[in-house]
Amino acid sequence: MTDLQAIQARHSVRAYQDKKIEAEKAEALRELLDRLNKEYDLHMQLIEDVGGVFSGVVSKICGWSHVPSYIAMVGKDSESLDELCGYVGERVVLEAQKLGLNTCWAGIFKRKQATAEIREGERLALVIAIGYGVDSGHSRRSKTLSDVTDVQDMPDWFKAGVEAALLAPTARNQQKFFFTLDGGKPVARVTGNAPFAKLDLGIAKCHFEIGSGRTFI
Ligand SMILES: Cc1cc2nc3c(=O)[nH]c(=O)nc-3n(C[C@H](O)[C@H](O)[C@H](O)COP(=O)(O)O)c2cc1C
Repeated sequence: MTDLQAIQARHSVRAYQDKKIEAEKAEALRELLDRLNKEYDLHMQLIEDVGGVFSGVVSKICGWSHVPSYIAMVGKDSESLDELCGYVGERVVLEAQKLGLNTCWAGIFKRKQATAEIREGERLALVIAIGYGVDSGHSRRSKTLSDVTDVQDMPDWFKAGVEAALLAPTARNQQKFFFTLDGGKPVARVTGNAPFAKLDLGIAKCHFEIGSGRTFI
């Protein structure tokens, strides 16, 4: 499965089978996290004992059930941590999809129940539920190209990037991002200041790069 196929196949899954992630797959995920932690100076962790992180009334309303594991998105607390967590965490989400696993980003969870190691100066931005879903999720409504870019006569690579970004998960499916071109280079920004919008932007930029084959740097 290519990155783009993983983007197309991925949907948020909140209800999981009562089944742990096999040791080899958990190991593959840990190796990936180690590599990305080094590359981006993050402290992401795979936590296989979820405890009460997805418990309580709100979690029930959200539809969480039998979440077997989660990835704690931890990093040095800074203005840029949320966008970075979105960008790097989505790489992990897509690799998980390739391993046959399902995922769902979660901004609302029982923070105090999270057992991830958070060192001094670090912050737990949010978590990603991961495991075998009872199904592989469903497609949802989406904004259109013209809602999220005003570029006229856009190059094919730019269009492919924005189309991939429109498939990105965003908090409450808010899709509050906007793509433009500046001197032939892609630029992405948040629209408004909704909660988790910076995280969403990082995720959308990850998808854009995969769809377009271009980077933001
Ligand atoms: C930053 C972020 C936070 C999210 N938080 C939650 C959450 O707390 N609870 C939940 O059920 N879904 C959460 N989601 C999942 C979104 O609701 C989901 O991505 C969106 O509805 C789009 O659906 P899709 O992922 O299937 O494309 C979150 C997604 C993102 C990106």
